[in-house]
Amino acid sequence: MRLAYLDPPFNTGEQFHHYDDRRSSDEWAQVLRDRLKVIKPLLASDGSLWLHLDDREQHHGRLVLDEVFGRGAFVSTIIWQKRTSRDNRRAFSPSHDYIHVYSPMGESWKHVRNGLPNEGALSNPDNDPRGGWRSVPLSVQAGHGVSSQFYEIESPTGRLVSPPRGRCWAYSSQRMAQLEREGRIYWTRGGDGTPRLKRFVEELKPLAPSTIWASDDVGDNASAKRELMADVGVGEIFATPKPVKLLRRIIEIATDVDDLVLDPYLGSGSTAIAASELDRRWFGIEASAVTVSEVTVPRLLANGVAFSSP
Ligand SMILES: C[S@@+](CC[C@H](N)C(=O)[O-])C[C@H]1O[C@@H](n2cnc3c(N)ncnc32)[C@H](O)[C@@H]1O
Repeated sequence: MRLAYLDPPFNTGEQFHHYDDRRSSDEWAQVLRDRLKVIKPLLASDGSLWLHLDDREQHHGRLVLDEVFGRGAFVSTIIWQKRTSRDNRRAFSPSHDYIHVYSPMGESWKHVRNGLPNEGALSNPDNDPRGGWRSVPLSVQAGHGVSSQFYEIESPTGRLVSPPRGRCWAYSSQRMAQLEREGRIYWTRGGDGTPRLKRFVEELKPLAPSTIWASDDVGDNASAKRELMADVGVGEIFATPKPVKLLRRIIEIATDVDDLVLDPYLGSGSTAIAASELDRRWFGIEASAVTVSEVTVPRLLANGVAFSSP
């Protein structure tokens, strides 16, 4: 299994329509510990486990993760903006949840995870038939340069241009001439400024995901309830669904096509929908038979997700 996403009861002290979320902290932590111990041997060596919690127990959750997986397995904690409206009943209006990410590889997991698409702000002012591009500097810090990187280039307007102070060109003059022949160099100020390299979408390196995920990018609890309402008409009785977009982001980062995803607290099935859309295999566990029959199954059917249940 390449990914386990756990969104357990947060120990909110509330009695929800479909499950009771009232335990002592110790009892809550013990239930989590037991689950993690079962999941750990099932996780691939390059897999990851994502534990989604709120303020109530996230600090205990992290300690239990350290205990079961080892502190070296910690990768990051993501802050997800779960709410944009204000709750004036509280000292501070809670806007975010925590998602703790652990992997047996620890920080080296960065070598196997997927980055985010780097496709923002492309343009095509010169109608390049190769499509949209973004320009990046053609000079680098001089300290690392060799003598073949210090020379003058002639701009389209006939001006001789040296690298900016303290910098040298990124390439030798031969390579620079080849890039010019390939139409890969963009000159600023209508040809009289500095040369920059045109990078096309397939050449842009994927981005490292940041640790703050805004609701504009991945949805929030309110948008998840609207999704649920549209699918099965039960947005209110199921308190904390997670948006499919959030799960899509997690699954895209942590897995590749055909990988296996586990959600042991399946709830409304957002993980299953996202996994299915992304051609990942998935399995889910949900303790509440009422949730399964009233919410999960109808929602998976409404979204055309193929599944079988024991
Ligand atoms: C916070 S909700 C999960 C929401 C889900 N991520 C979604 O997007 O709809 C927690 C779910 O875990 C279920 N649950 C509670 N205890 C469980 C257990 N021991 N095993 C499996 N599921 C459990 C609850 O019934 C509830 O549906």
